Amino acid sequence: MVWSLQSLPELNDIEFERWGKLLEERAGIYMGDQQRVFLQTQVAMRMRELDFDSYSKYLDFVLDGVSGMLEWTRLIDRLVVKETSFFRHKESIDMVAQHLAKRLVDSHDSESFELWSVGCSSGEEPYSLAMVLNDAYKWVNKDPLYGITATDISRAALSLARTGIYNERKLERLDQNYRQRYFTTLDDGKYQVISSLRDRICFNQGNVLNISEMPVVKVDAIYCQNLLIYFKRWLRENIMNAFVERLKPGGILVIGLGEVVDWSHPKMKRISTEEVQAYVHI
Ligand SMILES: C[S@@+](CC[C@H](N)C(=O)[O-])C[C@H]1O[C@@H](n2cnc3c(N)ncnc32)[C@H](O)[C@@H]1O
Repeated sequence: MVWSLQSLPELNDIEFERWGKLLEERAGIYMGDQQRVFLQTQVAMRMRELDFDSYSKYLDFVLDGVSGMLEWTRLIDRLVVKETSFFRHKESIDMVAQHLAKRLVDSHDSESFELWSVGCSSGEEPYSLAMVLNDAYKWVNKDPLYGITATDISRAALSLARTGIYNERKLERLDQNYRQRYFTTLDDGKYQVISSLRDRICFNQGNVLNISEMPVVKVDAIYCQNLLIYFKRWLRENIMNAFVERLKPGGILVIGLGEVVDWSHPKMKRISTEEVQAYVHI
């Protein structure tokens, strides 16, 4: 069959509802009317690759068995927004570094500092965090002792993240100082994060909706930005509550400014700053 994206009929209301329901149930992502064209285009592109001519038939295929599950992981890569950059919100990243620096100065504990970057996309966020954590240890003349777990639902984003390889454009706005100390230049002109930093990060595929199924490891900091905004309010709050259970006492939770409003938790105290939305576990 020969057809183009133009020749595919528009998603009708019933199909849009079915697709929207699937995305919300499986990934938490809410597709409003504004995202309808985006959803239609992305699904249609995949349908063209697989030679499907009906949204409903393709949806049935995605819902069916192991092959459907495999197809779902491919499709979700196209439906999530993966936009990210190094030091995307510098103030938040600096807050994590300050939190660690204070702990290193105040206490003599020799435990590793564990951080979880949730919705890490192609790695710029956890690598930025690794750079500042590394520096925090240097300031106090201690050998770096930290680990970062970085989770995302998109396998494609994680594959990129694991290489730690980025082109010039990605590094354009990165401070020269970080560029010089934490990247090597490859033969093809791209840049790679140095291995001592890469080795600190464990990238894994996971869905933030299934936190309860993830191994229970408590961490010192959770960093989750530009992910909760895609979820409905009740779901954002549920995820925030689940994050609390993953934090050690004294640990911090940093989210994007304004991504969750009017949320409070008896174990968490808001850190008072206007530029960063962060909470400490009391
Ligand atoms: C807009 S990016 C934000 C990346 C980074 N946190 C930042 O602020 O630059 C959102 C990321 O969340 C991921 N994501 C979306 N839904 C998810 C889910 N249910 N579980 C885990 N990750 C998810 C996407 O794949 C994407 O990489």
